Amino acid sequence: MKDNYVKLTFAAIGENVATSRMVLSSLLAGYDLSLSALDELKIALSEAVSNSIIHGYGEDASQMVTVEFTIADDILTLAVIDQGVGIADIKQAMEPTFSTRPEHMGLGFVFMDSFMDSLEVTSTLGHGTTVLMKRNLKSEQLFNADAV
Ligand SMILES: Nc1ncnc2c1ncn2[C@@H]1O[C@H](COP(=O)(O)OP(=O)(O)O)[C@@H](O)[C@H]1O
Ligand SMILES: [Mg+2]
Repeated sequence: MKDNYVKLTFAAIGENVATSRMVLSSLLAGYDLSLSALDELKIALSEAVSNSIIHGYGEDASQMVTVEFTIADDILTLAVIDQGVGIADIKQAMEPTFSTRPEHMGLGFVFMDSFMDSLEVTSTLGHGTTVLMKRNLKSEQLFNADAV
């Protein structure tokens, strides 16, 4: 497949989780991914985007989240970037069931980590957070071919 790059910037409202998922779906339309692989990628993206909206910005609609979609040599890279409050302790934040909001499950990073080949989080308190995730799209195709 052709390499591609899309940068999407949107207001920090919950509705735009779906917007980011739609862009991901259209970018991946040419790949013969299984439904489960597509779902996993959408979940990983949704978790990162909703974290930026909810935790980063407290759903302040005047703030912006950026997602950069890169496909290079059949590797998908998703960068989810906010200029929100930042994360005080990244290691702790990534632990299963840790959440700074008691009503939340604290599993977002667990999903991102298990559904993507790699996950990197960088954050500065008061300046924002970047989540970088990669997944090989080709190995999934090969896997499908074997499975059929
Ligand atoms: N973009 C972000 N900005 C600020 N804090 C974040 C961000 N993403 C994650 N966090 C912090 O990491 C914690 C764990 O995130 P996650 O695993 O998705 O669980 P949950 O969203 O259910 O709390 C959050 O509760 C929050 O404190
Ligand atoms: Mg979350």
